[in-house]
Amino acid sequence: MVGEERVPSDGERVEPPASFVAQANVSDGCVRAEFADNWPGAWERAADLLDWETEYDTVLGGDGPPFRWFEGGELNASYNCVDRHLDERKNQVALTWEGRLGESRTYSYLELYREVNEFAAALRELGVEEDDVVTLYLPVVPELPIAMLACARIGAPHSVVFAGFSADALATRMEAADSEYLVTCDGYYRRGAPVHQKNKADNAAIAVDGDVEATVVVDRLGDDTPLAENEYDYCELVTAHRGETVEPVPRDASDQLFLIYTSGTTGEPTGVRHTTGGYLSYAAWTSHAVLDIEPADTHWCSADIGWITGHTYTVYGPLALGTTTMLYEGTPDHPEKDRVWELIERNAVDVFYTAPTAIRAFMKWGEEHPERHDLSSLRLLGTVGEPINPRAWKWYHEHIGNGECPIVDTWWQTETGGTMVTTLPGVDDMKPGAAGPPLPGVGAAVVDARGNPVEPGETGYLVLTEPWPGMPVSMAENEGWFAERSSVRPSLDGYDWAYFTEDGATVDEDGYVTLLGRVDDVINVSGHRFGTMEIESVLADVAGVAEAAVVSGPHDLKGEAVYAYVSAAEGADADELRAQVTDAVEAAIGPIAVPDAVVFTPELPKTRSGKVMRRLLEAVTHGDDLGDTSALRNPEVVGEIESSLDRSS
Ligand code: WT7
Repeated sequence: MVGEERVPSDGERVEPPASFVAQANVSDGCVRAEFADNWPGAWERAADLLDWETEYDTVLGGDGPPFRWFEGGELNASYNCVDRHLDERKNQVALTWEGRLGESRTYSYLELYREVNEFAAALRELGVEEDDVVTLYLPVVPELPIAMLACARIGAPHSVVFAGFSADALATRMEAADSEYLVTCDGYYRRGAPVHQKNKADNAAIAVDGDVEATVVVDRLGDDTPLAENEYDYCELVTAHRGETVEPVPRDASDQLFLIYTSGTTGEPTGVRHTTGGYLSYAAWTSHAVLDIEPADTHWCSADIGWITGHTYTVYGPLALGTTTMLYEGTPDHPEKDRVWELIERNAVDVFYTAPTAIRAFMKWGEEHPERHDLSSLRLLGTVGEPINPRAWKWYHEHIGNGECPIVDTWWQTETGGTMVTTLPGVDDMKPGAAGPPLPGVGAAVVDARGNPVEPGETGYLVLTEPWPGMPVSMAENEGWFAERSSVRPSLDGYDWAYFTEDGATVDEDGYVTLLGRVDDVINVSGHRFGTMEIESVLADVAGVAEAAVVSGPHDLKGEAVYAYVSAAEGADADELRAQVTDAVEAAIGPIAVPDAVVFTPELPKTRSGKVMRRLLEAVTHGDDLGDTSALRNPEVVGEIESSLDRSS
């Protein structure tokens, strides 16, 4: 959590300017009443943004799980994101890519159509059939969305694995998804240095239990990567299929479009499976209503495509609406700290969507960087991933949005597919620090442990109380999503159906929700989720580690930091162990999960029954009051931990 200003919404309201409202896709406040009066029927609005091969019979089938959004309908996502735009805008830019080395490349809708078809034909020839999972392990290069759309075209769900993840993390995900096909690249540049992606993919292939039928390698570095049997060069494949077209396979609305792995409370990542009809409708609707995207726009969502934000708001939402979507491979401060503003100016970006962690870095670097650029093309700004504190909100509004662009602070999760709680920028006033009300048609409540709605201003748990089109397959199909409860979870017995989001929140008298962070053992580092258990299980395997616990700590820029408390085995050298811990996390998960601090302690603080007292570790980490420590068996370690923390800071 961001240290300052925890409950930031002081009721200050900022109205969207009339000039924005006048052109907004959704500017009529009646939309809320429309959804309230005609639920779930009003969700037709979302489905109507797509072209259906077979019209659906029912907006929402099923009174309880299994829910079937747009039941009876058939469609193809690749057709919706590509083919159907050809009549009106075949020469409009669909993808504009800004590479890490300053290169740029664009694809018109016609060019995108051709390459998606050619790669779909190649995948078929390699043996990929409908419902086979294809793993995509690529940085932000145009071949990534092309491969996603090629998979969608032939009805093969994709599983994009963030390129920064390690070989082990890739292997775990391929195995869990039973995926026998992989698309990767030779390597890519990270802060000027090459990362050998193919080596990681090779190591994953060795670790995967079962065969990898085919690996396709995109040439990103221009090296001559030797290819083994069953390995194919992307460019050669596409060239071999030049000019071929592949009929888009009609998929049932509830058929899987893709799966994506995310961290939860368990040690293993969970595969979240999103649907073709519900998810795509929801991606299109929220892109239209919240991000206000129009076909003529250049839209830039700065998230990596390896995360859900990139799936929904770089690829599926913007392309379904026929807009120009920008892909950026680089980092925001390379080669200079004005890189982002230079790109916005050069591409005349209309809508910019980023994370609070980035905004805090921009603030720190200073307004002289954006001031050097003409940002007047911007019409709307967005944030996602963590709470945004009012100071960062106001800086963003003033220095990037020129005091005019509305800001949408969008709350959602990998599981929700698209944004759920945020303002409609053409309808609602904004309150800096509060995400906003639930979107029209979205059921959300902040409840206490008994499941009763809390009073305005009181802290509770955010729960979703109605199904929505972007819900994943497992949530639509089974009740287990909310059946599993522990003492920190609210009782959801009072609802016909409800989903516990694992987020703490407050709500004000106008129904605006302010998010307070996760209530489970998940750490949100720069908007990326990691389970503490996931990291702990890696540490436990390091030879010199006797015991380890991982908790969230404060971080000025990243929002939260990973703190690892380690008690070393007899005779282990602290400096060596620190390096081993870092290496182990890098190898098992990837550099982004590496602990920001490794704090040595003779023992972990434990209760008399032998349980690690995490609450205490968190309090120590944050320098908070320790509360009741009478249950501790070894109170003396607290002082030791405090002095190690002082030394390490
Ligand atoms: C968690 C979901 C889906 C977007 C990227 C992250 C936190 C997300 C906000 C926001 C406060 C937010 C929540 C949520 N979160 N957006 N606008 N304000 N917190 O997806 O990795 O699935 O993480 O991110 O804690 O549960 P994710």
